[in-house]
Amino acid sequence: MTDDILVLGAGGHAKVVIELLRAGGQVVGGLIDADPTPRQVLGVPVIGDDQRLEALREGGYQFAFVALGDNLLRRRMGRHVQALGYQLVNAISPAAVLSPSAGLGVGIAVMAGVVINAEARIEDLAIVNTGARIDHDCVLGEACHVAPGGVLAGEVHIGPLAFLGAGCSVIPRVRVGASAVVGAGACVTADIPSHTLALGVPARVARARPAPEASS
Ligand SMILES: CC(C)(COP(=O)(O)OP(=O)(O)OC[C@H]1O[C@@H](n2cnc3c(N)ncnc32)[C@H](O)[C@@H]1OP(=O)(O)O)[C@@H](O)C(=O)NCCC(=O)NCCS
Repeated sequence: MTDDILVLGAGGHAKVVIELLRAGGQVVGGLIDADPTPRQVLGVPVIGDDQRLEALREGGYQFAFVALGDNLLRRRMGRHVQALGYQLVNAISPAAVLSPSAGLGVGIAVMAGVVINAEARIEDLAIVNTGARIDHDCVLGEACHVAPGGVLAGEVHIGPLAFLGAGCSVIPRVRVGASAVVGAGACVTADIPSHTLALGVPARVARARPAPEASS
């Protein structure tokens, strides 16, 4: 058995995650990527694609982090590695400020400069990106992503798989539905339905988005 962490993904998000895990004193043993060409990312070797996950689990890896920016893929792979017996770890920057009453799931990324306030809940596989501010009693659903600089006032609910682009702001008690996408710089002043794209200030629904398959 090893305490080293297996990271799924080898792109820009994985780079940030490797540094977050290292900052927390953890060792990233290898990367799994759809492109298994041997190479290194920040000194960590790519050791195969997801076909190797089972053998690596049997070989002693027990901890994994899914560093894939695509929300749906991150959720799918998170569930897959858990089914294989991996434990999902969190990657939380020491430069983030987390309320002691905030609730955290597993497999979540919290980047530098983030503030998460009292009794907010961050569900499994969510990304709270650089400098985002999540105020009291917010709920961030499974595998959602608040991009850099997002500001969520109190009691905001973000549905599973939703994506809030860079610099979004959301006023108190608003709900953003499952798999909704909010464009960069939008100001959300009213509920955004699930599976829609919303843009602008104030944010307006621009179009519908296809719902993910029920099994995803
Ligand atoms: C909203 C978004 C998802 C739309 O992407 P898209 O579907 O590929 O849209 P396009 O780039 O083809 O643009 C379509 C139209 O929407 C407009 N538009 C794009 N993004 C917009 C935004 N954030 N706010 C307002 N209008 C926007 C474009 O100007 C274009 O207008 P036009 O048809 O009049 O020329 C994308 O622009 C965006 O904001 N992404 C956020 C990225 C981000 O924050 N990433 C962080 C990663 S950590």
